[in-house]
Amino acid sequence: MIIKSAEFIKSAVEASQYPPGDFPEIAFSGRSNVGKSSLINTLVNRKRLVKTSSTPGRTQLINFFLINEMISFVDLPGYGYAKVPMSVKKKWGTMIETYLSTRSALKGVVLIMDIRRTPGYEEMNFIDWLNQFNISNILVLTKTDKLSKTKQIKQHLSIAKTLSVDKNDLILFSAKTRRGKDVVWDTIEGLFTS
Ligand code: GTP
Ligand code: MG
Repeated sequence: MIIKSAEFIKSAVEASQYPPGDFPEIAFSGRSNVGKSSLINTLVNRKRLVKTSSTPGRTQLINFFLINEMISFVDLPGYGYAKVPMSVKKKWGTMIETYLSTRSALKGVVLIMDIRRTPGYEEMNFIDWLNQFNISNILVLTKTDKLSKTKQIKQHLSIAKTLSVDKNDLILFSAKTRRGKDVVWDTIEGLFTS
């Protein structure tokens, strides 16, 4: 995908604040600090279209972006960050669930996981939930640059086993080296044509 334009559209909490949904939409989800915003920036070749931060929990709203005036990207708040108060967690949960279950422009969700961490019940529940709602998922293992080749292979296989998916269904990615960028794009584009 050649990026001609990438712009921030708006932030939303409630459905009434979402943009109209005139474009096919892809949402990006994952734990706090996993690298969601960095992945979006890498896909669109922008350093700072989406704010990134070393402080977990920085993205607290649903942020809508428009790419090439034809594809909508949605950066969702991260889940599972222990230091966020329960009341805030609940609010985020409801916000994400409402978005995923009602957004008709949504073509698929990119679930981003840290290759160094074994996925837990949050990830598994999330995938089950997407399947129940018939929402396509794209599974990405990010921060691969932080592990040696040997450890990458070990974690790749172990995560595939934990999630009961084929290892070829996990895309290896790094925002630092841009590894996997084209594969993620091709997979996203595949969702639009299917
Ligand atoms: P929240 O919005 O807070 O949930 O975080 P996020 O998932 O959007 O993560 P973000 O993209 O802000 O990245 C978090 C931290 O991880 C930042 O310090 C990034 O620079 C770093 N990071 C993200 N992706 C990579 C990667 O592939 N490799 C390395 N080495 N660091 C990364
Ligand atoms: Mg973010």
